[in-house]
Amino acid sequence: MHEFTYKKGILHCEDIPLTDIVREHPTPFYLYSYGTLMDHFQKMREAFRELDPLICFSMKSNSNLSICKILVNAGAGLDVVSGGELYKALKVGCPTERIVYASVGKTAEEIKEAIQRDILFFNVESVPELIMIDTIAGRMGRKARVAIRVNPDIKPGTHEYITTGTKEKKFGVDFKVAEDIFDSANKYPNVALKGIHLHIGSQITETAPFVSAIKKVLDFIESNNIEIEWLNIGGGLGIVYDKEKPTTAHEFAAEVIPLVKNKPFKLILEPGRFIIGNSGILVCKVVYVKTGASGKKFAIVDAGMNDLLRPSLYRAYHEIRPVVERKAESYKYDVVGPICESGDYLALGRELPEILSGDYLAVMGAGAYGFTMASNYNSRPRPAELLVMNGEVRVIRAAETYRDLVRGEKVLNELK
Ligand code: LLP
Repeated sequence: MHEFTYKKGILHCEDIPLTDIVREHPTPFYLYSYGTLMDHFQKMREAFRELDPLICFSMKSNSNLSICKILVNAGAGLDVVSGGELYKALKVGCPTERIVYASVGKTAEEIKEAIQRDILFFNVESVPELIMIDTIAGRMGRKARVAIRVNPDIKPGTHEYITTGTKEKKFGVDFKVAEDIFDSANKYPNVALKGIHLHIGSQITETAPFVSAIKKVLDFIESNNIEIEWLNIGGGLGIVYDKEKPTTAHEFAAEVIPLVKNKPFKLILEPGRFIIGNSGILVCKVVYVKTGASGKKFAIVDAGMNDLLRPSLYRAYHEIRPVVERKAESYKYDVVGPICESGDYLALGRELPEILSGDYLAVMGAGAYGFTMASNYNSRPRPAELLVMNGEVRVIRAAETYRDLVRGEKVLNELK
């Protein structure tokens, strides 16, 4: 469910018509609904209420400061994967005991900073990383809390690029290595082994892979008599982009809770997409409509793969909705951006009522991994981010300017 709906033929965000918003704000821009965001967060929280888990919003899905602050104010923690995300997490005042830190490639500097800040724990992905954390913590005279990320070798039935918990992937350690780590904990005197982490992939629409992975981990914990304070089951819950019927938070919780209740550890969840995916859209304007040599129709819009990479990178489906409904004959369109690559598209062969230049289109389900994966490719400033909250449209990130494009660059003196 989300609050981007048609009222009298005009797409609205909550109660505000997009026709008003595009008058004030140049396209392209991301537009988020506060109501939808909170609704999704509360749904997850409600579903797991019985266990009162720590819900660490995965910042890689959307790290806008206002979005993160809203969630932190509502009681969420944050899942970070870089020094930059930690910086932003601290900037929004996330209590450090609610920050967890994954990533296969944490650098010494990033580790040091996170230990200094006393985050809840690192999700450790390899033995060399564990040694690095132990060494750095030792030098700092500290004991660093860690969870070991296990790779349970479970196929989640999602896109190859966002499958993380199968054995040929770079993530986590296998059960044997995890066992060795727990058995030889005294080899890491500056580390406290506090938990186990798993994350098997993203946009997973069924509960079964989660359940299999969690069961494997629970067997591992029990058969090795491992004592932990935290079990972090990661993120990955899918959303509706097209015709998927993803498991709901309640269905998910109903299967997970019986497995982990009455256990001597607390639960952590790291949802990203579930919370923000359908809380945001990308709004763009049709610049030209043209018919190619093959007879195919192209709607060329002012947003491209630099603004929303998912279709180009994963062939991901995003619904396209006209901002103003038009009762006209439908045609098949490739909705494409201005970037100089044939892979630059938002939709291919999409049946839509006739599109004219000057029309505005909404790319749905763009709240997660939309802006965070945007780039300046083709020297295009990244778009603005707007938020509808309490009946008002607010800018939560200004559109970049040409000046932003050259920030930090210089023409060497000897070239002048
Ligand atoms: N925790 C960890 C350790 C993760 O690696 C991820 C996502 C999450 C949590 C959050 O997963 P979510 O609940 O959002 O599924 N760019 C891709 C998605 C990459 C996901 C990477 N890891 C996309 O646009 O589909």
